[in-house]
Order: sequence, then C-alpha cells, then structure tokens
Amino acid sequence: MLITLLIAITALEAAFITILLRNRKRRKQAMHSLHATLGMLEQRLAARTDSWRHASETLEQTEQRHRITTALLNETKEYLNSIINSMPSIMIGVTPSGHVTHWNAAAELSTGIREKQALGFLLHEVYKELPVTTAMIDEAIANSEPGTRENVKIEHLGNIRYVDITVYPLHSLELTGAVIRIDDVTLRQKLDSMMLQNEKLKSLGELAAGMAHEINNPLAAILQSLQNVQRRLNPGQAGNRAAASALGLDINLLHAYLEARDINRFLSGMESAGHRAAEIVRHMLEFSRSSSRQLEPTNINVVAHASVEFMRNAIELSMPGLFARLAIREDYDANLPPIPASGIELQQVLVNLLKNAAQAIQEARRDEPLIRISTRLTPPHVEIRVEDNGIGMNLSTSRQIFDPFFTTKTVGQGTGLGLSISHFIINQRHHGRIEVSSTPNVGTTFILTLPLQQPSQSLEKNR
Ligand SMILES: Nc1ncnc2c1ncn2[C@@H]1O[C@H](COP(=O)(O)OP(=O)(O)OP(=O)(O)O)[C@@H](O)[C@H]1O
Ligand SMILES: [Mg+2]
Repeated sequence: MLITLLIAITALEAAFITILLRNRKRRKQAMHSLHATLGMLEQRLAARTDSWRHASETLEQTEQRHRITTALLNETKEYLNSIINSMPSIMIGVTPSGHVTHWNAAAELSTGIREKQALGFLLHEVYKELPVTTAMIDEAIANSEPGTRENVKIEHLGNIRYVDITVYPLHSLELTGAVIRIDDVTLRQKLDSMMLQNEKLKSLGELAAGMAHEINNPLAAILQSLQNVQRRLNPGQAGNRAAASALGLDINLLHAYLEARDINRFLSGMESAGHRAAEIVRHMLEFSRSSSRQLEPTNINVVAHASVEFMRNAIELSMPGLFARLAIREDYDANLPPIPASGIELQQVLVNLLKNAAQAIQEARRDEPLIRISTRLTPPHVEIRVEDNGIGMNLSTSRQIFDPFFTTKTVGQGTGLGLSISHFIINQRHHGRIEVSSTPNVGTTFILTLPLQQPSQSLEKNR
C-alpha cells in the first residue's frame, strides 16, 4: 500500500516537473516574442520621432518663409503706396458700385479732401465735380479696356482746370473695380491754344499788312467821292446854287426830291458802311504798325480809368437805356508801380473788353448791370480784371473768341477782331497773357497778366 502510494507520488512529481518544464519553455518563447515586438515598436517610434522632427523643422522653415514673405509684402505695399502717392497724377481706386478704395496724395492735394474723408464713400458724393459716371466705370470693367476723356473742364472751389481722365479696369481674383487717373493738362491746353492763336495771328498779321493798303486806297477814294457828292447836293452851298440856276434848276426842289426818295439816307448809309470798312482796315493795320511802338513806363491805373471814361461816353451815346442803370466799379491797387507798356495799345485792349462787357450785359437784360475793372500787383506781374454779369459764354464759344473774325454778334454789330487784336497786343507786344473764365447766363471775367519787366530788360539787369 505504501509502495503504491510512493509510486503515485513519484508519478505525480514527474508529471508536475514535466508541466513545469513545458511552462518554462512557453514563457521563454513568450518573452522572446515580447522582446521582438518591443524592438519593433522602438524602431517604429524612432522612425516616427524622426518624421516628426523633420515635419517640425519643415514647419519652422515654412513659418520663417511666411514671415519673410509677409515682411516683403508689407514692404512692397509701402513701396507701391509711396509710388502711387509720389505720382503727380490723381489716382482714385473705386469698386464697381463707385465706392472709393484708394485716394492718393495728389487727390488730397488737388481736392483738399483727406484720404479718410474719401475712403469707403461714394465717389460722386465725395468729389461731385468729377465727371466720371458709374456708367463710365461699368463700361471700362465690362470691356476690360481703359476709357478716356480728354480736356475735360472741371470747376472746383471756383478754380477752372482742364484734365485728362482715364478709367482703367481692375480685375484680380479677389477684387474687381477701377482705377481713375486724372492728369491736370491746364498748362498744356493753354500752351496749345496760345500756339494756335499765335499762328493764326501771325497769318492774320501777314494778311493784314498785305491787304490793308490795297483796300485802303480804293476805299479812301470811294469815301472821298461820296463826301463830294453829299457836299455838291447841299442846297446851302453858294457854288451849288449858282451851278443849278445856270442850268435853270431849282436846287430846293432837287433837295426835296432827294429827301422824298430817301436818296440822302442811302448816301448816309453808304458813308457809314464805308467808314465801317475803313475801321476794319484800321484794326488790321494795327498788326503791322504796333510792333514799331515803344513800350515805356506806364501807370496802368491811369490807363484803366481813361478807358472807363472813354467807354462811359460811348455807352451813353450808343446804349442810353443801359447807361442809365449800368454801374462801372473801379477798384485799383494803389501800390502798382509803372510798368513797361504802350498806353495807347492797352487802352485799345481795355476799351475792347469794356465794350464787349457792355454788349454782353445789354443782351442779358440784367436788373443790376455791373462791370468791375480792377488792378492788382502779383509780382512779377500786374493783373487787370474786367468782369461783367452779362450773358456769358459756353465752352465752344470761349474757345474761339480769340480767333480773328469770330463773332456771335449780328452783322454790323461786331467785326470779330476786338479780342484777336487784344490778344496780339497783350501776348506779342507786352509778353503777357489774356485769359477768360465764363459761365453762361452768369457772367464773364477777362484777366490780363502783364510782366513788371519785359524779357529784354531782365536780361540787361542780369548782365
Ligand atoms: N464779355 C463777354 N461776354 C460774353 N461774350 C463775349 C464777351 N466778350 C467777348 N465775347 C464773345 O466773343 C466774341 C468775339 O469778341 P470780339 O471782341 O473779338 O469780337 P466782337 O465783339 O464780336 O466784334 P468787335 O469787337 O469787332 O466789335 C463775341 O462775338 C462774343 O461772342
Ligand atoms: Mg468786341
């Protein structure tokens, strides 16, 4: 029994040892595979860490590049802004609806409107005088082509300027709109018209010099003969009465016949038409003669006052109705020094201007007709202004007024030479300027600018 028990225990032990041995082997295997897995995980972790490090380096580089790009962008923006602001042209950015997005320094300077007063507002509310319509902006954007208008007259704060306007369409990914560029071409416009005017006057001067003598001689003969005819039909003259009675003719009857048939009136008409023609020729001759007259120190205020007095008499005679109501205001600068000028020629100019002013006022039928003549010292010039509240002129008329023979007056009222001769006298003879500013149905201002010294004088002084 005991032996059997011992055998059983031994068998049990053997079985137990066998199990132990088997478990140990399994654990060994498990440990082994655990190590393998751990190794793999470590490898993966290392690889992941590497890729993270790489990613973070790349991110840092990207960030650095972004910082540099942003700085460059800001710099470019500043640079572009300073380019736009240093441009002499007005540059205004607008959205398709006409809201202002850009307003450069030239725009501020010429309009007096600050950038912050303009940005975000509607262009036509901010800058009412600018003749750029939403239609013009739409058209430029729709056609993808710039729209241009040249020599546009703008009146801003009482100042008249001429501008070229270009509307450039703007198409980018985020923004559609337009850039309006405005260039002040007032000086170019003035120079163009002055050059054109000088050319015209030069040819008129040449024509005048040639024609005037040719016309003058036969005209003088016609007028002379006409005077003789009138004199010899006069019944009051002894010679006429003697010649008539020798022929058995009643001179009083002849005179009555001439009156009854209006012949004396026709003769007077012929005489005044002849004098008128002579006047035109005289005007034309001024071109060739005036260059020989000397310029000498002249008191402009005295010349202006003499012109006004001369015109008062002329208006009283030819426009008595107007004379009774017309106020001529004289406003002279007492500090005006004498300037080199031809008093006779300047008076001719001022009389032309005053006559035009009176005619324009007469036509306008004003309740309070007014002409104002003033002088002002604006070194290195003297300025003379002749203002009226007459009918004024539209742009097309004011562009032609200095053209020889341009007139809007009825036949017999004007030859159209007054202003072209005035232009010649001021421009060519005195090296000055004559400018006009006019508003239809409001009035007209002529501005004469004369130098205090003639160019040759200043040269002598500098020698
Ligand atoms: N003050 C003014 N107001 C309105 N229009 C004017 C004025 N001055 C000139 N004009 C216009 O300019 C034109 C030309 O003037 P300009 O003095 O050369 O000739 P005119 O007056 O017509 O004729 P003329 O001077 O030979 O008698 C005038 O016909 C008129 O249309
Ligand atoms: Mg005239």
